[in-house]
Amino acid sequence: MAGLKLTGIAKAYGDVNVLHDIDLDIASGEFVVFVGPSGCGKSTLLRMIAGLEQITGGELQIGGRVMNDIPPSQRGIAMVFQSYALYPHMTVRDNMAFALKIAGQSKEQITAATDRAGKMLQLTPYLDRLPKALSGGQRQRVAIGRAIVRDPQVYLFDEPLSNLDAALRVATRIEIAQLKASMPDRTMIYVTHDQTEAMTLADRIVVLAGGTIAQVGAPLELYERPMTEFVAQFIGSPAMNLLPGRVRTVGATTIVALDGGLEAHVAIPTRAGDEDMPVTLGVRPEDMRITEGTPVFESTVDLTEALGEVTLLYFGTNADTAPITAKLPGIHPDLKGRRVRLTADPHALHLFHKGLSLLYRDGTPPPYQPRMAAPSGSMGGTPAAPDHDRDRIDEGVIKPAGPVR
Ligand SMILES: Nc1ncnc2c1ncn2[C@@H]1O[C@H](COP(=O)(O)OP(=O)(O)OP(=O)(O)O)[C@@H](O)[C@H]1O
Ligand SMILES: [Mg+2]
Repeated sequence: MAGLKLTGIAKAYGDVNVLHDIDLDIASGEFVVFVGPSGCGKSTLLRMIAGLEQITGGELQIGGRVMNDIPPSQRGIAMVFQSYALYPHMTVRDNMAFALKIAGQSKEQITAATDRAGKMLQLTPYLDRLPKALSGGQRQRVAIGRAIVRDPQVYLFDEPLSNLDAALRVATRIEIAQLKASMPDRTMIYVTHDQTEAMTLADRIVVLAGGTIAQVGAPLELYERPMTEFVAQFIGSPAMNLLPGRVRTVGATTIVALDGGLEAHVAIPTRAGDEDMPVTLGVRPEDMRITEGTPVFESTVDLTEALGEVTLLYFGTNADTAPITAKLPGIHPDLKGRRVRLTADPHALHLFHKGLSLLYRDGTPPPYQPRMAAPSGSMGGTPAAPDHDRDRIDEGVIKPAGPVR
């Protein structure tokens, strides 16, 4: 059992500070995913944990032991890289066994370990093949097998699936989830650019930006309660729309006067003194829906993208600012060039002031509860208002009884 504790971890190359003030507790058995823009230091942080990169400042503990100056081989970790670089002249079994042979393990021990890894990764039929006779996904599984045979306490993955094609990525992602489930007490840290991998695999996601941690939380917590505009736009695809405005009416539900003249009712409280405060309204594309009632956004559709299960609508594609995007369920072949009015549930809206969410202005808000979708059947959650009521909710006439985020 090994958790990790990072305290004030920093990394500099010469006088370039890449990472600073990284404080992070990872519980034993947890699956933590690092995400962030390219170059933000994800690989560097992972490599410092692995011992492949010197730690410039702060303290790293693994399993309660300070590891800053302990060599990689004694940290109880194994790392899987994006480029799996198998030895081409060795069979799958020998590739997996290599580190164990170097470590001087007996033939019996090595056979038992490679048999076990082959079984876990469904590679048993391929153990005697050379890498060139494997698919990309099978080769990546061999690379994971090289980690498994060492039975580490902590697994580190640096974008292990990014060389695979789309279908293989999905299949291998599911295998990694199953692998983790079969090793509940092993800790995993996983770097990815892929939103779906982050959302589906992680117990907690760590968003890195600007050389430090922007937010840590359960995937849905980051999605529903982002602390900053940056996290709001980084988690979720397409990115959250941001609409500037000012607070018009304070209260348990805040009324925001948007630039351009429209209004939004937001189920985030504001208080006396907040009147006229500049704010940014955040609306996720998938939370927008067409309304005949009061819209929070109204414009002409410049472009549509039909993805089958959803249609993306783009507005203001020629403007200097980022286009506004809406994601509507189903197929809408007739919307391009049409003027549409869009609204969103007050509970789905976000409110930022100077880049920071108003939910966090007094510290951490009450424990996070996932916001339930409007139930179709017996799923529970906030009862769905019929559509005409929903528009009245938007107008602040009906206060839904659902959980306030
Ligand atoms: N050996 C080095 N010398 C100087 N700078 C380095 C060195 N290695 C990495 N960097 C810099 O450190 C920063 C973080 O790099 P890192 O590889 O950790 O980013 P990343 O988040 O993994 O990016 P990506 O998503 O593209 O893989 C980058 O700006 C990079 O240029
Ligand atoms: Mg990287």
